[in-house]
Amino acid sequence: MALDAAVQHIRQHTDAHPEIGLILGSGLGVLAEAAEDPVIVETAGVPGYPTSTVSGHHGRLVFGTLEGRSVVFVQGRAHRYEGHGMEAVTMPVRLLHALGVERLLVTNAAGGINPRFVPGTLMLLTDHLNWTHTAPPLAVTGWAAQARPAPSPYDPVWRAQVQELALAEGIAVEQGSYVWVLGPSYETKAEIRAFARLGADAVGMSTVPEVLMAHRLGMRVLALSTITNPAAGLSPVPLSHDEVLEVGQQVRTTLERLIRGIVYSARSC
Ligand code: HPA
Repeated sequence: MALDAAVQHIRQHTDAHPEIGLILGSGLGVLAEAAEDPVIVETAGVPGYPTSTVSGHHGRLVFGTLEGRSVVFVQGRAHRYEGHGMEAVTMPVRLLHALGVERLLVTNAAGGINPRFVPGTLMLLTDHLNWTHTAPPLAVTGWAAQARPAPSPYDPVWRAQVQELALAEGIAVEQGSYVWVLGPSYETKAEIRAFARLGADAVGMSTVPEVLMAHRLGMRVLALSTITNPAAGLSPVPLSHDEVLEVGQQVRTTLERLIRGIVYSARSC
């Protein structure tokens, strides 16, 4: 099985058993530099690992320590719009799970639909709308791993802890629903109008597959969007991937502070 070969490959580099996995979104890959005593594994050498072709995504697993906890950063996720199937897109999550990771923090860059969520806003996902209507097939995990009974995969206890932490640290963190679209083109104005009416606060092209897989595997999951641009039609300026990367850079310090806090306090909830 491809996953066994991937685990074996990782084990040639490190015997780490990280507590927390952090998937880094567009423009946020640089956060992996915070890892102490890093062991870097190029994902190109990991059997079965999907290749990421998007600028701002590196293709590395960075094992290390953050705030005294063993972590692994996933730099360079694969997206459906790159031509990968659900099995490939969710392979990194299955790999993390096989390495013993029990908690997953997924980050992404997203367009703001809620008019209050201006570029630079951090938003904890409370829920999602799956506009692609696809999910990882059960055959990928085996039929025993049925959908979990929890109504939302976004861990309410962990989320509440992060809200408290953010308040104590003076970091503004919003909460909202994320709509997952296939991409790669940005949405039409009509789509954004429709998503707003459906209750979505932010839109993006990732996260949901990883969250669905992690939840199915019984991992505790949290997801955090950085709003990098107003969604299509909500600003007179056309959207660009450069803008997404630029805002990612701007929020880096705040996001790193928040992530350090999340990692530090995760064990106590
Ligand atoms: N739409 C979809 N994905 C995105 C956006 C957006 O406006 N911004 C960052 N990722």
